Amino acid sequence: MVICKDNVFLLKNDTLSYLFRVGKYGELQHLHFGAPVDIDDVEAFACRPGLGWGSSVLLNDADSASCLDDYALEWSGSGRGDYRESPLEIGTSTDLRYVNYRILNGIAPMANSLPQARGECQTLEITMEQAGLRAKLYYTLFETALTRRVMLENTGDAPVSLHKCMSFSMDIPGQFHLTSFHGGWSAEMRKNTVTVGGAKVVVESLTGASSNRHNPGFMLHEADATENAGRVYGFNLIYSGNHYASAQLSMQGLTRVMQGVNPSNFCRNLAAGEVFETPEAVMTVSDAGFGGMSLLMHRFVNKHIVPAYWRNRPRPVLYNSWEGCMFNFNQHRLLDLADRAKDLGCELFVLDDGWFGKRDDDKSGLGDYNVNLKKLPNGMEGLSKAICKKGLQFGLWFEPEAVSPDSDLYRAHPDWALTDAHPDVLGRHQLLLDLTKPEVRDYIVENVSRIIDEAGLTYVKWDMNRHLSPVYSNVLPPERQKEASFRHMCGVYELFRRLHALFPNAMIENCSGGGGRYDLGMMKYSTQIWCSDNTDPVSRTYIQYGSTLGYPTATMSCHVANHGSSIEDPRKLNYGFRVALNGPLGYELNILGASDTAKATMSGQIEEYRAYEHLILRGDFYRLLDPFACGRYAYYFASADSRELLVTYLQNYADP
Ligand code: GLA
Repeated sequence: MVICKDNVFLLKNDTLSYLFRVGKYGELQHLHFGAPVDIDDVEAFACRPGLGWGSSVLLNDADSASCLDDYALEWSGSGRGDYRESPLEIGTSTDLRYVNYRILNGIAPMANSLPQARGECQTLEITMEQAGLRAKLYYTLFETALTRRVMLENTGDAPVSLHKCMSFSMDIPGQFHLTSFHGGWSAEMRKNTVTVGGAKVVVESLTGASSNRHNPGFMLHEADATENAGRVYGFNLIYSGNHYASAQLSMQGLTRVMQGVNPSNFCRNLAAGEVFETPEAVMTVSDAGFGGMSLLMHRFVNKHIVPAYWRNRPRPVLYNSWEGCMFNFNQHRLLDLADRAKDLGCELFVLDDGWFGKRDDDKSGLGDYNVNLKKLPNGMEGLSKAICKKGLQFGLWFEPEAVSPDSDLYRAHPDWALTDAHPDVLGRHQLLLDLTKPEVRDYIVENVSRIIDEAGLTYVKWDMNRHLSPVYSNVLPPERQKEASFRHMCGVYELFRRLHALFPNAMIENCSGGGGRYDLGMMKYSTQIWCSDNTDPVSRTYIQYGSTLGYPTATMSCHVANHGSSIEDPRKLNYGFRVALNGPLGYELNILGASDTAKATMSGQIEEYRAYEHLILRGDFYRLLDPFACGRYAYYFASADSRELLVTYLQNYADP
């Protein structure tokens, strides 16, 4: 429910309340984000401003209680007495004041192509204005979380340069710890906890993607919060590009937290009448520790982010060719593998990299969509028919955002690649395509959709293997190049939106060299995400543990794979499977020479997974042991009525 009484706003569901009010000067004062409360409790949460003396700047010289620095605020600007970090920068001081509100049933749809949470909800729209500028703050309340975002409109005659506009800002009374997830390629989601004091703590990505370095999901929590007790706030951003979040404690004992598009190397020029909409941020809070917060976030993501068609459906157990063959395959080998995969009980056969252009290694061919007839003489249609005849579904790997300099596409359209005046910088021997160009987006949608149609694909693995550089766009004038990174990401989302409209039931498994884009923006279009290229089961326990704090297990692809799950060593094969029993299951190893014992083991594993899949994809998930703390990872899934439990205990090291 969303209500307003005497300029006080309350968003309240069964698990949380969010309370704020309009202050005397039209500023928005944050009051409470936590356990459910009533709108009449407002005074209990009101800020008691300090004396407003010394070096303070007052909104009204005659009112010592008019120093914005003293208040917990919902939004702020610069130059009016609040000297904490501002969520908004336009190059001059700002003075947005409250004008009015509206309550809408459902979401307030965004006009740009950014992904947005959907489903049963109510939205509060708050309008604030100053001369020449209007801001609309949107709060959308779902069952277990709420989202916030901002729409900024240039209502004046002169252009406005928007240097920074966060999706939300809020001042929470008290001091907290901040836990976030850092890492790199093959080492994603390493948990990191720091105390938020007077020195600012920043979680940000500058790679052009949400990144394997710093995930956008983070938590603020009481110092002694545990899995089951203590207050934990969870935050995330529905965005896959450069993100930024900060937290800092003020002298008044308020922790200012904000999140949005990274302002570094960002600027948006708003002509008269133009609008900028930020990505949507998600937040929830629980007094039942990390476990309580995760449950609320998992429910929100499962219900309001991931593609509707797959929400309550079992997933096909897949066999992926990558770790078993790499680039070294032909039709004969693939059909042999498909036979074995089918015998094991797999339902979907995925041909990974290497099926197109001149692609025998990762140095060429990206951008070309002609099937390699040397490897696949009957074309993709022929291979697909043969695979489907075996009773398997068929899926393919694509990396549509990239181009190899050694490709027909690059030779025909060198200007489609992201390059600037400096020498090219390659990543995995490849460049990226300039997705701010409509013709590039059309080329990708036409080719990917043609292959999906021709081959009757039910599954697409969408990869993206390098960081963004140069941050540049061929269609923007020099003075607007700081718009490139955000516009590039909007281009990526346009690709997903168009393909999803054409194939709403196709499964997309997202991948970005593993977990380079394990985020809510990608989850909007992906049934599941490959969380790391590191398939060693021991490493995986850390990556999976970290992923489950903010993301539901149904989004986390778990494969029994070559690295560390050696097929003829029963203990390793079993350990690989036990670790993989944490999300939708797949196999990614060479099964051609597998012994009868290994085959029987894998068939048994698939049967076991099938028996528990309803719990793994739709059960409630509770962590028991943190591998970062003790080298052991334990957790359980519970059915809604708690009559069924699946408990997993994984001991990574001998522990005498
Ligand atoms: C990336 C992916 C792998 C695989 C290869 C293929 O590294 O993360 O899973 O698809 O590309 O080149």
